[in-house]
Amino acid sequence: MPTEEHPSGLSSQQISELRESAKSAAERSYSPYSRFRVGAAVLLEDGRIFTGANIENASYRLTICAEHTAIAKAVDEAGSTLRIRAIAVENLNGAASFPCGPCRQILFEFGNPDTWIFAPGETGAADSSLGDLLPFAFHL
Ligand code: THU
Repeated sequence: MPTEEHPSGLSSQQISELRESAKSAAERSYSPYSRFRVGAAVLLEDGRIFTGANIENASYRLTICAEHTAIAKAVDEAGSTLRIRAIAVENLNGAASFPCGPCRQILFEFGNPDTWIFAPGETGAADSSLGDLLPFAFHL
């Protein structure tokens, strides 16, 4: 029986792999203040995956989100022409958590409204396009 394709065009195996990469990244979270351990994995158009974890700071507002870490690593390694096809976010706290507002804007810089986001929702694994999460995104 043919499996139904996700609207992102990604296979369920690709999506699981991305989610697993995000979960492993969360193990490297530096979050002594919130104890909210987050990991993210970005899938580039060329198939490469880059991961990152949240990095907190005693001066709280300097905290870097997992999504930001992963995107910064990808840009540094793959070059600024990279395009992000999808991102998965996971945490080790069993909480529902989609990327925060600033991370949506950072994602938009290297993605587009059809970039897909896979995250833990209120009732299990959830997903959304960036266009739905960040309508009227700012761009120059
Ligand atoms: N955090 C992320 O890593 N990504 C998000 O999208 C939301 C929040 C982190 C920041 C902080 O270290 C902890 O989660 C609690 O806010």
